[in-house]
Amino acid sequence: MSTRGSGARLLLAAAILLGSVGGVSAIGTSDAVPQVSVYTHRHYEVDQMIFDSFTELSGIRVNIVSASADELIQRLIAEGEQTRADLLITVDAGRLHRAKAADLLQRITSVTLETRVPEHLRDPEGYWFGLTKRARVIATSIERVAEGSILRYEDLSAPEWRGRVAVRSSSNIYNQSLVVSMIAAHGIESAKAWASGLVDNLAREPKGNDRDQMKAIAAGVADVALVNTYYVGLLLTSDSVEERRVAEGVRIVFPNTVDRGTHVNVSGAGVTAFAPNRENAIRLLEYMISDESQAAYAAANFEYPVVSDVPPSKIVAAWGSFVEDILPLTELGRLNSDAVRLMDEVGWK
Ligand code: FE2
Repeated sequence: MSTRGSGARLLLAAAILLGSVGGVSAIGTSDAVPQVSVYTHRHYEVDQMIFDSFTELSGIRVNIVSASADELIQRLIAEGEQTRADLLITVDAGRLHRAKAADLLQRITSVTLETRVPEHLRDPEGYWFGLTKRARVIATSIERVAEGSILRYEDLSAPEWRGRVAVRSSSNIYNQSLVVSMIAAHGIESAKAWASGLVDNLAREPKGNDRDQMKAIAAGVADVALVNTYYVGLLLTSDSVEERRVAEGVRIVFPNTVDRGTHVNVSGAGVTAFAPNRENAIRLLEYMISDESQAAYAAANFEYPVVSDVPPSKIVAAWGSFVEDILPLTELGRLNSDAVRLMDEVGWK
């Protein structure tokens, strides 16, 4: 960075102040304020904290548009070259793959990103990078399921779990990505037989979110459930006594520690194909994988840092370490349609 005169710095500070008056950030204003515009499917308080400290550090204003990844992708397609978006953030690698395939992202090179984000958690061509890691685990009733009686995803189709499994719908990307990992491990036919067995074992029709699956265990409706780890952390630290009780009643099993490891996905980001503020987007991306931001994601949202030397939160660390399935996350996008078709065929609603 070149040094600026103090007069210029004051002017810049005044411009940033003026720019933020009124609260609502206006995407597309062509004033002199350095800015970056983010389309994000992440919806957590910690993200705003990270954007705020980035602005404080860099003087770059962060404009935010929040919606589901599918809506944001549609918007990027509609806006084409006219888009004001610089960065697309999603909560799974599958949709980043989809955005790349639709020519909505661009390749970037950054030594920082390439050295700090492990290879299997980013696009090999530099179109997107993982920001935080999520493990899809089996939550079991402490009361009704003996420790060690379920160790692998494969077990979920075994007859002993008939009528005891809770899982959300097949339209959910976390489940689709898990099924992809089963296809990658066993091939389509075996994965299909497994999914069919899992459907036979359901305690009820798939419904609700991951938190609701743990609530089904607390209510005695199910004994085992598929959930992402951070939801357990969020329930454990909830303001509601009831929700804390739900989380305290489950044991976390990291599946497949004995073989290929537990399925992980990432929330991640890519610079958009027509980003008007490309350099600022790269700076923000690098800031999001700084030690400081990675620790903030871990502490506030119980996600695993992608940067290996940043530790998870104490609550998450207490569940123990686990073996991670290092299936390249690009596969989650590549095999997504196979997984969706397979789930449909076995009647996973
Ligand atoms: Fe989630």
